[in-house]
Amino acid sequence: MPRCQIDKTTIVIASGNAHKIQEIKTIMGPIGIRWLSGNTLDIGQVDESGSSYLENAVIKATAYSRASGKLALADDSGLEVDALGGLPGIRSNRLFGENKTQEEKILELLRRLKQVPFEKRTARFICHAVLLSDEQLLVSVQGVLDGVILSESRGKAGFGYDPVFLVPGIGKTLAQMSDAEKNICSHRGSAMRQIRDFLLRWQDQTW
Ligand code: IMP
Repeated sequence: MPRCQIDKTTIVIASGNAHKIQEIKTIMGPIGIRWLSGNTLDIGQVDESGSSYLENAVIKATAYSRASGKLALADDSGLEVDALGGLPGIRSNRLFGENKTQEEKILELLRRLKQVPFEKRTARFICHAVLLSDEQLLVSVQGVLDGVILSESRGKAGFGYDPVFLVPGIGKTLAQMSDAEKNICSHRGSAMRQIRDFLLRWQDQTW
């Protein structure tokens, strides 16, 4: 499709994670875009074989854009724990056992950090987000959230490693925050607000 015919009004969110899709829609707010949820498309498991968050985000966006014929928004995120040399990193979903429950993955993370004192349990969530059209990367951004890994879970909200990720400035884990609180400080919130700003500028341009 030539670039002048890009449909700027409909974007597929390239993820099968219903929680993440809802987070992204909430962060974007009412900006005149029709969002298609990636988990309603039958595209199966995307092979996230890239060697960086950016590569994985592009792989996901390409798969969903091809399947839907629409602009695609993808993110790839991960947890980097300093005491583990940055692991699990881009393999956050797989390193501690692909078929394990999230609770089991958290227990494995805590087991590996058992001897590590609080002040050395620093970590960060990283999120790379991309917008891709017709195989072309339109924009790529990064968001980061610094925190500390606790030695036990606190809170029930969110997903993934949220219950053990303390945000020191706020004094709560991500799982103790409301969706709105998490979105204000989170890696994904920061990345998606940059994408939203791009979209608002881009919608006004005619190509
Ligand atoms: P994804 O590949 O971007 O979906 O993320 C990979 C993994 O990183 C997820 O399965 C989670 O374990 C972890 N992760 C990413 N973002 C978050 C978050 O906001 N909270 C908790 N865990 C997250």
